[in-house]
Amino acid sequence: MKHRCLLLAPLLLGLALGLPAQAQKRTKPAATASKSPYFQPAAMMTVGAYYYPEAWPESQWARDFANMRKLGLEFVHMGEFAWGLYEPREGNYQLDWLERAVNLAAKAGLKVILCTPSAAPPVWLAENHPEILMVDAEGRRQQHGTREQGNWSSPVFRQYVEKVNTQLAKRFGQNPHVIGWQIDNELSHYGRQFSYDEYSRAKFQAWLKQKYGTVEALNTAWGNVFWSQLYQNFGQIRLPNQAELVATPNPHALLDFQRWFAEEAADYIRFQAGTLRQYSRNQWVTTNFMSQHRDVNPPLSGKDLDIVTWTIYPVHGELQTGDLGFRLGNGASLNFMHDFTRSINGHEGIMELQPGQVNWGAVNPQPLPGAIHMWIMQAFGAGADLVCSYRYREPLAGSELYHYGFVGTDGVTPTPGGQEYAQAMREVQQLRQLRRPNATMPARLAARRTGFLYNFDNRYDLDNQTSTTRWNTTDHLLRYYRGLKTLNCPVDIITEDKDFSPYKFLVAPAYQLLDEKLVARWTQYVQQGGHLILTARTGQKDRNGHLWEGPWAAPIQALIGARFGPRPFDLLPPPVTGKVSAGGKTYDWGSWGELLTPAAGTQTLATYADQFYAGTAAAVTHPLGRGSVTYIGVESLDGSLERDLLRRVYTAANVPIDDLADQFLINWRDGFWVATNFTSEKQTIPAAATTKLLVGTRELEPGGVAVWQE
Ligand code: GAL
Repeated sequence: MKHRCLLLAPLLLGLALGLPAQAQKRTKPAATASKSPYFQPAAMMTVGAYYYPEAWPESQWARDFANMRKLGLEFVHMGEFAWGLYEPREGNYQLDWLERAVNLAAKAGLKVILCTPSAAPPVWLAENHPEILMVDAEGRRQQHGTREQGNWSSPVFRQYVEKVNTQLAKRFGQNPHVIGWQIDNELSHYGRQFSYDEYSRAKFQAWLKQKYGTVEALNTAWGNVFWSQLYQNFGQIRLPNQAELVATPNPHALLDFQRWFAEEAADYIRFQAGTLRQYSRNQWVTTNFMSQHRDVNPPLSGKDLDIVTWTIYPVHGELQTGDLGFRLGNGASLNFMHDFTRSINGHEGIMELQPGQVNWGAVNPQPLPGAIHMWIMQAFGAGADLVCSYRYREPLAGSELYHYGFVGTDGVTPTPGGQEYAQAMREVQQLRQLRRPNATMPARLAARRTGFLYNFDNRYDLDNQTSTTRWNTTDHLLRYYRGLKTLNCPVDIITEDKDFSPYKFLVAPAYQLLDEKLVARWTQYVQQGGHLILTARTGQKDRNGHLWEGPWAAPIQALIGARFGPRPFDLLPPPVTGKVSAGGKTYDWGSWGELLTPAAGTQTLATYADQFYAGTAAAVTHPLGRGSVTYIGVESLDGSLERDLLRRVYTAANVPIDDLADQFLINWRDGFWVATNFTSEKQTIPAAATTKLLVGTRELEPGGVAVWQE
């Protein structure tokens, strides 16, 4: 399917451009075998909505399903919070109502996604087994009355989850109308992030024992000699919890705890997938990860899920970029999530997308008319397999009053957002007819295909010790991603287990934790013709989070052709800003500034223009083997320096690039170019004047979409 095309393109292009063999080499597609009829290439992307049959009179179900179909929806999503109805009393399973709903949906022509209900355990379970409830940082056991209070490290909770999942899978696992399953819901404990209970503590201790073998090894890895934190046995170790510590927790303990928590969440996903797969046939399994959430790490579940899905509510009161950003959302952040989740195992989709105003932001504005349509079409362009709306009907009772639906409070009248979904679906249906099954990525685009290296451990460690209130890890990653999208690069956001060789360019922002092995891989990648871009904070620590005994960021010095120091970096307290010059322009910086001394043969790209170190290098580049390494040690206030330096790297490599406005995002999929205007100004699409547009106009208003083929 689509990934075959994506992967073939660079090879053909590589041959055409005479690129080095390494840059031409292809990896096997990471995608798992397609199981659902909706993951077939011809459908490209399918659209559906959440529906809660348990919340509405049964007499309305058939009408609602028929109306969904009329609006172009192709599937309905049900049951993620219905445990109390599936099992009203222990062991008494009541699934007939769900089967009636599935049958009615099928009769209306809708496919069905069913869910495991572990996000909302029933009251009797909490009453009979309080140990299944999570414990917050203050030691309070959380109670029934909301959701996500279940503790997935509790073996008792897992037993009950297994039983209800088994009943569901036995009943629906062979049902031809059920195409897939969602595990849990936005796996997390929402605001109360971790459970500090005894099961979790015991599992963390066992994980540490497995990792370190002896408590002495752990003491060394955690630097426990400092402040006399030494442990004598694993049983003494508690979950790092600021609420019970006078001073800050040990940073290495914290990093390990975050790693353990993410692995434990992945283990829970694997466990639930296993309970379903025992009885389900030809149905895919997913879970809906929260966008940009970091405690749960989606790539850890790449092999356990058939498709990685995620949830996003782009408009919920944040200002974002430009005057209209609060009504359009952050297009680059959305695109990042598509590129990230797609790269995990080849299948991705948005499982929850708002159809209008939400209820939970500090301020809940209306999306700009057209924005919802734009988000759906952006998903299409970015290669998503599905988009699902949260939710079909606006609720009349319960915790989410004032949350828009596909239809309004009367249950039948489509909201403006519902109509935008219907419009997008009509367009996708037309585009399906025009799909070119063997389309390969245009050569000029494939030439700038970029790998973007992403590692959750780095994110944990950077966030645990930001060193300045101005540092924001997500923003740092996004400023490079945004820069790449202004060049109109196709980007895969990959983890270290992936091969780097399909990418002529590899960007690894703020890669703080590394080892000699990774540096050796990077070096080989560059020597064979790749262009590597590293940024501030890279290589400062080993994988345990220790600084190196040696020069600052010792392992990367030879690679970047520069050393740091004698003062490795400077930080400026707000509102102080410093100046950097590059290519005849001056930029402001404030968050992070590294002071570089280039070695012979290394070229300086940017220098500090003020402070006591004026004239010192802030960014450098040097050729290595057949490729190049660029190191950008400073973070500019508005990201413009990063954008300009990225542009320079691609130009120096003689690769054609575009010049798009920040947040004017273009994706290519199956022969279609899809432009989405998240800026607050009009934008012109970069297509030849003779190009016939399939959707939209050449001049795009904010929120506008254009689709064309070449
Ligand atoms: C999501 C959640 C949904 C619903 C939605 C409301 O985060 O997964 O169940 O609560 O928010 O916008």
